[in-house]
Formats: sequence, structure tokens, C-alpha cells
Amino acid sequence: MRLSLLTIGLPLTLAIPFSFLAAKPVYWLLAGDSTTAPAGGWGDAYLSTTVALGSSGHNYGHSGATTKSFRAGGDWANVIEDIATNKAKYDVYVTIQFGHNDQKNTSGVTVAQYKNNLAAFASEVKTAGGVPILLTPLTRRSFSGGKVIQNLAEQRTATIAVAEANFIKYADLNIASEDYVNSIGSAAADKYNLATGDRTHLNEWGSVVFSRIVSDIILAKYSELEYAVKKNETLSALIKAGKAA
Ligand SMILES: *[C@@H]1O[C@H](CO)[C@@H](O)[C@H](O)[C@H]1NC(C)=O
Ligand SMILES: *[C@@H]1O[C@H](CO)[C@@H](O)[C@H](O)[C@H]1NC(C)=O
Repeated sequence: MRLSLLTIGLPLTLAIPFSFLAAKPVYWLLAGDSTTAPAGGWGDAYLSTTVALGSSGHNYGHSGATTKSFRAGGDWANVIEDIATNKAKYDVYVTIQFGHNDQKNTSGVTVAQYKNNLAAFASEVKTAGGVPILLTPLTRRSFSGGKVIQNLAEQRTATIAVAEANFIKYADLNIASEDYVNSIGSAAADKYNLATGDRTHLNEWGSVVFSRIVSDIILAKYSELEYAVKKNETLSALIKAGKAA
């Protein structure tokens, strides 16, 4: 069999990469709260507008979820099961973004527990054969004194600390989204609100814009995923320039 490559004249240096290194399409599993979930989060638009043909995924974002309730309510078990179901055909990546509900003083989750829960999620993804990507929480879009109120800073720092201590991939969605919202200003940012005055959740176009930010910051750090991404250079350029899309 080895000789047949030579007899048909294919140089081995070319034949080997194509036959052994061809990447599988990506299956994205999105774990998070309402800022990821359908109808208010970035997740559905991520799957429908940033994922290349052949790749796919499922949005497990759950409104109101903390890192504790996401496991207790059974969502996490579904994510792990989906890794097993899809890993033969796809490279399975799991984005993990929490904080908006964990941070509430009624959540029953301390910052230390939030960190432990994120680390456990990532470790279980690796064990199941997937690749975890921690995302720092999407910014809220309320302003004070002309600047976005930074009310997820503690969760951002905690998420990055977990990622760095455990060699987990991560992308800093909190700062990327905050920078963008600061740059376009309060009036333009309000156009992404799910409902008047709701500066946490996203309407349909808002979810397209912020899912593009998620995709762009993941690609900026992990360019090996480029083959699995459907680009929108126009939108990415507007975001990069800090202009309202
Ligand atoms: C939670 O925070 C609110 C607002 O800061 C405060 O009024 C309330 O007493 C706190 N509740 C608990 C259980 O700590
Ligand atoms: C790409 O982004 C531009 C600029 O925001 C937008 O008008 C266009 O609809 C987007 N294209 C697709 C295919 O989503």
C-alpha cells in the first residue's frame, strides 16, 4: 500500500499532511447563562452567523443559570453527553461563560466556588474529549459618567485566573465587549437592547454583533480554528474600528 503512493506519483510530503492532518469540522457547545442563551444572548447568532459550513453546534445557555444551578439542573450533564455523541465526527469545543447570576448575593455561589466550578467544568470537558474555552462575562451596557459601569470585573479576573492556573484556553469577552460599548457610546449601545432599558440582554442584531466579537477574539488567540469560522469582514472591521454596527 505504501508503494502505491509512489507509483501514482504523489510526493509523500504532500500526501501525508492531507491524509493525516485534515481537521475535522468543529462542534460548538455553548454553556452559559441568559447572555449566551437563545432569545437574549449571543449564542444562537454565533451558531448561525459565525460557524463555517460543515461545522455546527448547540446552544445550552440557560437563563438565570449560575455555575452551580447549571450542574444541579442537569444542563451540564447534557453538555458532557453531547461531547461523547459528537467527538468522532467533530472536534468538540465548549465555551463556558458565567458570572452575571453567580455574582448576585442571593446566588449561593461565592467567588471561590465560582472559580472551582469553572475549573471543574473545564477539566470534565477535557476528560470527555472536548476542548474548553472559558469566556469572561459579556459586559452589561449601563453607563455612568460616559463610561460603561464595570460590574463584572471580579468575575472577569476570577475567570482568567482559573484559565491561567489550569492551562485552559480563554478569551476576554468582558473587556472586548466593554471596549466596544465604550467606543460606540450609550445611545448606540441601547440599539442592541432586547427590550427598552434592558442593558444586559441582546436583541437579534445585537446578538449578531456580539457573537462576532466572541468569534473574533477566539480567532485572534486560536487562529488554528480559522477553517471552522464563517467570516464577516465588514462587521469585524466596524467592531475593530469601534464604530456602531
Ligand atoms: C444583597 O444586596 C442588596 C443590594 O446591595 C442588599 O440590599 C441585600 O441586603 C443583600 N442581601 C443579602 C442576602 O446579602
Ligand atoms: C456583515 O456585516 C455587515 C455590517 O454590519 C452587515 O450589514 C451584513 O448583513 C453582514 N452579513 C451577513 C451575511 O451577515
